[in-house]
Amino acid sequence: MSEHSISAVSAVQALKWSDRGLEVLDQRLLPGDMVYQTFDTAQGVAEAIASMRVRGAPAIGIAAAYGVVLGARAAYARDPAHWKRAIEDDFAVLARSRPTAVNLFWALDRMREAMAAIEGDPVPALLAIARRIHEDDLAANLAMGELGADILAGCKGVLTHCNTGALATGGYGTALGVIRSTWRRGALERVYATETRPWSQGARLTVWELGQDRIPATLLADSAAAWLMKSGAVHWVVVGADRIAANGDVANKIGTYSLAVLARHHGVKLMVVAPTSTVDWATAAGGDIVVEERDPRELLHPVFLGSDSVIDAWNPVFDVTPAALIDAIVTEAGVVANPSPHTMAALRGKAR
Ligand code: MRU
Repeated sequence: MSEHSISAVSAVQALKWSDRGLEVLDQRLLPGDMVYQTFDTAQGVAEAIASMRVRGAPAIGIAAAYGVVLGARAAYARDPAHWKRAIEDDFAVLARSRPTAVNLFWALDRMREAMAAIEGDPVPALLAIARRIHEDDLAANLAMGELGADILAGCKGVLTHCNTGALATGGYGTALGVIRSTWRRGALERVYATETRPWSQGARLTVWELGQDRIPATLLADSAAAWLMKSGAVHWVVVGADRIAANGDVANKIGTYSLAVLARHHGVKLMVVAPTSTVDWATAAGGDIVVEERDPRELLHPVFLGSDSVIDAWNPVFDVTPAALIDAIVTEAGVVANPSPHTMAALRGKAR
């Protein structure tokens, strides 16, 4: 699938490659301003990830892959004989950019594997792999959209959390891709989207994407979810994932665990949608997943920041939902119903 096909499927592209480097849509400015910034170094791409200009697990992995291409281009230009050694610093900086989304490490591993066989100018071969990662993610999203829509057949109302759309992926989206495909089939009437504090991915990004597709959407405060479920308006919660452990536990945006507990109490089902690049087979259970904690200043009012202040803030940006609270994990390789170590093992054989 070419760059042209990516723009045909998604109204907005988080990442675009050009000869100048990686063009990153600054998601911090949306929905007010649509500004692309070009990064021509691996360090620059790492900073774009750490600062949340680009965010969402699959998009972070794709950006990191292009970051390796940029690092290799510079290292080869400086010293063609030793570029493989020189690029190690770039791998380290990219790996430090954000800790939870395993797609980042998955993409870096794929780029490193490809490097081994390269002789001469590394850019054409590495760029081909990065483009492949990008295009494969879009293809996975389209496949998951259909599989998820099969499960949601007849469902009139869904609740989603964070942003899992074209902005967070190679295009189309994971959970939002399932919602798009379900909408096209006709039964879905309304999508409910949480604000997703503190970065407001739902309020700024998800409802913006849904509006572009003319899908009726209602925004709610995160704290309104229980009341919404009690009203009977939603039958499924549909979310993405940043890392899925081998037993089916899911790390995703902070608040996902709360929604899972609420959903179980109200008889609402929970679907997690993620490509197999989000499954971390080396992590046995969710307790082993590193949960990113960001700067308390993202939460704290400046009035509390003085050196004599006794007020702090706790800002974990992900949480882990136990597999037992999840009804289905939808991947491009198939659906895992009632995830457990046993049902997840069956997926492993099918994953690429
Ligand atoms: O902090 P973010 O915005 O990078 O978090 C994003 C999420 O938690 C998404 O739900 C997840 O990455 C899946 S996106 C397809």
